[in-house]
Amino acid sequence: MRKKIVAGNWKMNTTVKEGVELVKAIAQQLNRIPEDVQLVVAPPLTHLSSVNQTLIESGCSSQIALGAQNCANKEKGAYTGEVSANMLATLGDGTNRGVEYVIIGHSERRGYYGETNEILLEKVRLALAAGLKVIYCVGEELSQREAGVHFDFIAEQIKEVLFPLSQDELKNIIVAYEPIWAIGTGVTATSAQAQEIHAFIRKTIAEKYGDISEQIPILYGGSCKPSNAAELFAQKDIDGGLIGGASLKADDFIGIASSF
Ligand code: 13P
Repeated sequence: MRKKIVAGNWKMNTTVKEGVELVKAIAQQLNRIPEDVQLVVAPPLTHLSSVNQTLIESGCSSQIALGAQNCANKEKGAYTGEVSANMLATLGDGTNRGVEYVIIGHSERRGYYGETNEILLEKVRLALAAGLKVIYCVGEELSQREAGVHFDFIAEQIKEVLFPLSQDELKNIIVAYEPIWAIGTGVTATSAQAQEIHAFIRKTIAEKYGDISEQIPILYGGSCKPSNAAELFAQKDIDGGLIGGASLKADDFIGIASSF
């Protein structure tokens, strides 16, 4: 049985106070979701300590894990403004879990900040070495889908960033398929379109890693909401969601997570 995961990518939204309130509201509604669903909240960096503390106080820090949205591709040193994977991983004080997940390769990082597969591989390696689980994002633009090159493009994103990893490293990878044309647009991939790509990603991973690919959670992201989550999550190779806009409302985020 693969892990079911619903992760909220808050992007650059909320103040620290609003973020703490949001996570409290999510914690209060946990009884609405199945126990085997792992929630992850990935707030902005400035919020991590406060949100971590709130999760501990609410007693929910095992079912709601903390994630970061990015990490540096360098270990440490003179890289002004950057935050290392190890800094994220050591946020907890040893008595709590602190940051457990990091999102790497989001299309907004690739597109706006020029992050190449080469840079992303450096990030993934450092994150795994620091003990973090990586939510690695892939996905095509509409023009690529229309030109019929989306399978090749996604295969390249998988091969260049995941294939250099060892089998043990791969076990801490979660893949998120986020078609760029579906992010923040209100246009969701149909469940058939999403399933087709998820199955393709799993098959691509299997080419190198064999049966381990069956254990890798593959999440769908892109205008996922309570009204379409159940159909998406019912697909064989869709193991949950990476949620943007709808993760900023506790009711919607919980509504999505209760759709399994
Ligand atoms: P939306 O859910 O707002 O479309 O964003 C998806 C996303 O980019 C999550 O990482």
